[in-house]
Amino acid sequence: MFLLLFALAIVRSQQQRVRARLAQLPTQPATCTYNPEQVLHPTDVDLEDDKNRTLLSHAAGEGHEAVVQMLLLSTSKPEVNKKDKAGRAPLSHAAGAWDKAVVLALLATGQVDVNAQDKSGRTPLDHAVSVGNTTTMHLLRESGAQR
Ligand SMILES: *[C@@H]1O[C@H](CO)[C@@H](O)[C@H](O)[C@H]1NC(C)=O
Ligand SMILES: *[C@@H]1O[C@H](CO)[C@@H](O)[C@H](O)[C@H]1NC(C)=O
Repeated sequence: MFLLLFALAIVRSQQQRVRARLAQLPTQPATCTYNPEQVLHPTDVDLEDDKNRTLLSHAAGEGHEAVVQMLLLSTSKPEVNKKDKAGRAPLSHAAGAWDKAVVLALLATGQVDVNAQDKSGRTPLDHAVSVGNTTTMHLLRESGAQR
């Protein structure tokens, strides 16, 4: 019992650590007026929660365009196709969250796998369809998403 509570507390704190870090970062869309390295910590690209969701994945799913841009521009580039335990990469979370700006930023890297499937076989386009965002669906199709 004690061990279970202890384990739950650790899991909770891992999630909170990533979310707390996200909350510390600026929300204004990134401009060229600052250098990502002055805002990001060297450990930010590797930060992930107990579900293997990285800071980039959280930022992508929550529409934090500024953080997504900074991470993508940083010299210690995050792994853009890194999947979490559900098999979802940052683009999958962005597509499922109606966020056009973040989807565009990820696609603009030219490195995202637009047809990557998660553990339930769903692609970013499937997630965009499920939230009904025609803008995101269009962007994904233009970038080679099939179905
Ligand atoms: C997933 O996260 C666990 C810790 O929660 C870590 O030990 C494991 O290496 C991670 N897996 C991947 C593929 O990053
Ligand atoms: C889709 O996302 C865009 C950008 O985030 C938003 O402006 C639009 O209202 C959303 N909904 C639809 C149906 O396209």
